[in-house]
Amino acid sequence: MNSLTLAERVAVTDKLDYTVLRYLIENRERFEFIPKDVLKDDLGLSDKELQISILRLIKNGALLKKKIRGKDSFSITFTGLDIVATKSLYSKKIVKNLGIIIGEGKESRVMFGYDFEGNTVVVKYHRIGRKSFKKKIENFPTKNWVSMTLENARREYEALQCVKSNMGYVPSPIGFSTNAVVMEYFEGRPLYRAEVENPENVLNNVLATLRVAYLYCGGITHGDLSQYNVMVNGQGDTIVIDWPQATRSETKLGRDIERILLYFEKEFLIEKNIEEVMNYVKGSS
Ligand SMILES: Nc1ncnc2c1ncn2[C@@H]1O[C@H](COP(=O)(O)OP(=O)(O)OP(=O)(O)O)[C@@H](O)[C@H]1O
Ligand SMILES: [Mg+2]
Repeated sequence: MNSLTLAERVAVTDKLDYTVLRYLIENRERFEFIPKDVLKDDLGLSDKELQISILRLIKNGALLKKKIRGKDSFSITFTGLDIVATKSLYSKKIVKNLGIIIGEGKESRVMFGYDFEGNTVVVKYHRIGRKSFKKKIENFPTKNWVSMTLENARREYEALQCVKSNMGYVPSPIGFSTNAVVMEYFEGRPLYRAEVENPENVLNNVLATLRVAYLYCGGITHGDLSQYNVMVNGQGDTIVIDWPQATRSETKLGRDIERILLYFEKEFLIEKNIEEVMNYVKGSS
């Protein structure tokens, strides 16, 4: 079933399969791989029921099997998380259909979606930990990858909610579940490959957004601000995307400001005084 789309994988997932997947998510801190007999006892299933469900989930790419101390044990996969999230977004009437993949990075898969009124939305499925463990380990020394992934989705959703409600330039958050964040679709291009008519205006929008995040959202900063995470369109509208690493850190705030100012200086010859910008963002000027 390697070539199935996510929507098709959701369609072949049975009610009992969701019970198994949700159990694995809820018990993620107990075991990374849950032994089959524990699964069977805790869920009160017969051997046959569990076996059928497990085979279907493995075929669907939602489950990973490993022998631990001689016992068949199981872990959910990123695809498993995506399936649970998609099903739940549908039940909550947030996303009705999925479209094509917009972008696939190390830490997420971003897809088009359609809400129940047929509007286009963006569904971002977080995928942290298994492949990008090194980068995150200092922040989450004791967490397993499922927890890290779910926390990233929640952190991104909460940052978008706060910044948007305080008039910052970010996509409007629409909903979230499990590892997925649903947001408004912005028709534009990432700054690094956009034609920019008024770069001064774009920079001001970005800095105003940093200021909102700092002053009204508990002193947070983006944490990975760059020309790759700013989008612009032909009308000069700007948004700052990709907030899962939003955190309260003066060092990261300094780096975010430095990086973005450097880009505008090199690319558009706009020079700003870093101290003044820092004071503006922190509300001291
Ligand atoms: N709200 C949005 N509207 C339109 N396109 C979006 C939106 N959010 C994300 N995208 C597209 O998806 C890409 C990746 O999104 P994002 O930067 O949030 O994820 P990422 O984890 O950094 O992924 P990557 O590792 O590919 O950079 C963006 O470069 C952009 O093209
Ligand atoms: Mg990005």
